[in-house]
Amino acid sequence: MVPNKDDFQSVLSHSRQLVAEQLELTEKVIMDVAKAAPAGIAERLESLFQRKGKRIRSTLLCLIAKSGETEPDSNRVAHACAGIELLHLASLVHDDIIDGTDIRRGQKTAHKEWGTQVAVLIGDYVLSQAMRCVINEESRDVPVVLSDAADKLISGEILELDHSGDMNLSFEMYDRIIDGKTAALLDAAARIGGVLAGFTKEQADLCAQMGSHFGIAFQIVDDLLDYGFGSKDLDKAKFTDLSNGLITLPLLYYFEACNAEERSEMETLVKQASEAGVPEKIIELMNAKEVFKKAKACAQQHLEKALEIAQTLPAGQFTDEIVQMFSAMDSRGN
Ligand code: FPP
Ligand code: MG
Repeated sequence: MVPNKDDFQSVLSHSRQLVAEQLELTEKVIMDVAKAAPAGIAERLESLFQRKGKRIRSTLLCLIAKSGETEPDSNRVAHACAGIELLHLASLVHDDIIDGTDIRRGQKTAHKEWGTQVAVLIGDYVLSQAMRCVINEESRDVPVVLSDAADKLISGEILELDHSGDMNLSFEMYDRIIDGKTAALLDAAARIGGVLAGFTKEQADLCAQMGSHFGIAFQIVDDLLDYGFGSKDLDKAKFTDLSNGLITLPLLYYFEACNAEERSEMETLVKQASEAGVPEKIIELMNAKEVFKKAKACAQQHLEKALEIAQTLPAGQFTDEIVQMFSAMDSRGN
């Protein structure tokens, strides 16, 4: 299959195919978690695990792990990937409760299906199992990196909540929030990939930086998709950020570019964002200041930094694939 280089989904599905065996093993590790769970949890986990995401984090981990000189141990890679994907899933289950979102991965969110109390506990179970996946990993770095990533996700999410509705949010604080809630896990996936590839500490650090830049770009694009900018076949609801008081990069650019009167008008609209017709009005005003384009350019800068580092990885088909994945990311529509 030759991927359409301008279509992220097509490039990503090519990348997944390149590491398909490894991802299948990962799937088995994940499904075994469901099978081993007690009754009452097992069925819910099976249902949750069937709603597969894009597997971006585990695909990146596999590509990096395979870009080294020696073939990595497939069992270690599968358990590390399962740890990363389960941590991601646990955070999404909890995030959907926090955001009050009804749809995820094209289906009902866990709390919509089972109620908030059960969904909190299912998220807790998935988090615990994520850590268990790497408990026997021979490099002590891997569980430490995964646990650190969980801490950063939680800190990022708390920072975001602390700044909910903060119309004076700074660019610096926005960076800290997305660094925690999104970049940290891609940073961790890339670092673990580097460890399993047998890279030196310096090379693994570079992998982590690469994952972090990719993660920041990924979240900026995600924030743009929430406004409907560039969205195509979106498998989750739009305009949830504004309705939840989340101030993201496009709005920060708007506040930077507008005058006092425009700011006051926008602040009023943002407070009414859950009312019908208001998001469209907000988007119209923001479009006039070209803030979506500015945010996209910012995402592209981070992708360029990620690409610069990717070029330093050992040459070969897996590194080429990482380059393709990064190059196409800003075109993703869901
Ligand atoms: C999605 O962001 C949210 C995250 C990527 C992180 C959520 C983190 C937590 C809830 C804390 C960590 C929890 C555990 C169990 C470790 P978003 O709401 O902007 O994106 P979305 O549109 O996909 O919901
Ligand atoms: Mg959310």
